[in-house]
Amino acid sequence: MFFPANRPRRLRKNENFRRMVRETRLSVDDLVFPLFVTAGKNVKKPISAMPGNYQMSVDHIVKEVKMTKDLGIPAILLFGLPAKKDERGSGAYARDGIIQRTVSEIKEKVPDILVITDLCLCEYTSHGHCGMIKKSEVDNDTTLDVLAETAVSQARAGADMVAPSAMMDGQVQAVREALDEEGFEEVPIMAYSAKYASCFYGPFREAAESAPQFGDRKAYQMDPPNSDEAMREIGLDVEEGADIIMVKPALAYLDVIRRAREEFDLPLAAYNVSGEFSMIKAAAKLGWIDGERAMMEVLTSIKRAGADIILTYFAREAAKAMRR
Ligand code: PBG
Repeated sequence: MFFPANRPRRLRKNENFRRMVRETRLSVDDLVFPLFVTAGKNVKKPISAMPGNYQMSVDHIVKEVKMTKDLGIPAILLFGLPAKKDERGSGAYARDGIIQRTVSEIKEKVPDILVITDLCLCEYTSHGHCGMIKKSEVDNDTTLDVLAETAVSQARAGADMVAPSAMMDGQVQAVREALDEEGFEEVPIMAYSAKYASCFYGPFREAAESAPQFGDRKAYQMDPPNSDEAMREIGLDVEEGADIIMVKPALAYLDVIRRAREEFDLPLAAYNVSGEFSMIKAAAKLGWIDGERAMMEVLTSIKRAGADIILTYFAREAAKAMRR
């Protein structure tokens, strides 16, 4: 039966009807808040391309983590900016490295929030690539050893979960084996499985000072037009031992999120990346959109596409908006 018997507008009439039939609910439980830690003391340096985000020294980070926890957000994702970078990215696995010191400090002062460590080398290498350079290329297999060593040192510092994001083949297996060997078999891996070579990481590279000094990341991150390949990448990570799989970025890849949801039954994360955040901030600042509504609409769209976990710079603002 068609119109006039069918009138979908009946259930949209007021907010109580809309609440009753709403299909997707965003919750504070879904959110992970990324933070950037830098060397020094009492440093809180604004990241100009990501309004409201800062490079902060450990003392400030601890306060921010506490605030994040008090908003009910279950986890943070930590990125480190080492004082010195080198060819090998040795700051990534140094026992007293920026991440190692910060993680143990957070675990001591704010125990009741999950600390996830981003596991990559681009913030630590002088050339800004995510792995070891051999003959002007990023070498896969030597990078695996460094990632594995870094994962172990992060776990030793107290990380609750590691998140390999270098897009090296076999990285999840290398990290899993190394963690198990060192007695960290209980530490889960959130794998950046389908991570695309995206322009939407632009503002992040200012935040993490991690822009490649030559070339680009297209020889290791995925080619944006591919989604069959994303399913193969995710499948490999599942076989290698990933506990959580991820699609990144989120908004230009909602179809990939939906497909991953349908093809895999592991918890699925999506990274609402820096460029996706900053576009909304910029448009809102210009008065072109309602920033808060745009934030809630995009976060809900990521959930509707099928993500269980959303890594987002909006986490705290969204948590506040959901309280009202
Ligand atoms: C490290 C890493 C990047 C992001 C997360 N981890 C940058 C990159 O791959 O260039 C991007 C996050 C963002 O844009 O918010 N490899």
